[in-house]
Amino acid sequence: MTSSSFSIIHELPVHDAVIETLSAQAFGPARFTRAAHLVREQGGHAPALSFIACREEAVVGFVRMTPIVIGVTKALMLGPIVVDPASKGMRIGAELMNTALAAAADAQYPLVILVGDEPYYRRFGFQPVAPGRIILPAPVNPARLLARELTAGTLQEAGGLVRHVNRA
Ligand SMILES: CC(C)(COP(=O)(O)OP(=O)(O)OC[C@H]1O[C@@H](n2cnc3c(N)ncnc32)[C@H](O)[C@@H]1OP(=O)(O)O)[C@@H](O)C(=O)NCCC(=O)NCCS
Repeated sequence: MTSSSFSIIHELPVHDAVIETLSAQAFGPARFTRAAHLVREQGGHAPALSFIACREEAVVGFVRMTPIVIGVTKALMLGPIVVDPASKGMRIGAELMNTALAAAADAQYPLVILVGDEPYYRRFGFQPVAPGRIILPAPVNPARLLARELTAGTLQEAGGLVRHVNRA
């Protein structure tokens, strides 16, 4: 995907260092204690469903997807998504989100969850999960646990503990 001023491409191992820098800049040391991080460290993200944004040959944003199970339902957890402060407000975040969600749908995943600000993610079809229905390995504010169905009805069926697919 290419826009007039930036392009979105698949993440590669060579991007690890700049992704780590962007993460540290956005979230600081607290990123290692977040509930979503605890799931990701059980097995890592899926590079084939993860993307970076490039602008004038610099990496200015990324989104990662992690394969999970919720109880027995296969799904993806989206995040982190970060855009460098100097490149915010150019719809780079929106293009990263739309690209990742399209890739998830192509790969036949029925559901995507994330922990984040509902006022931002609602525009991509995310809605709050009923409190207590989906459980992460550390407490999260229930208002920030969001889901987007890629197959209608999946959210009604999904419930329980979130684990990395490698731990299922
Ligand atoms: C969230 C983020 C990825 C959005 O990237 P972006 O490229 O600036 O996003 P876009 O250009 O597509 O969209 C910008 C719009 O989103 C809004 N927005 C950004 N963050 C928001 C938030 N947390 N809540 C509500 N709206 C938000 C902006 O106000 C702007 O609104 P407008 O379209 O009405 O002007 C970026 O702000 C970021 O990296 N934030 C820090 C890291 C973070 O919190 N990531 C999400 C949790 S993992």
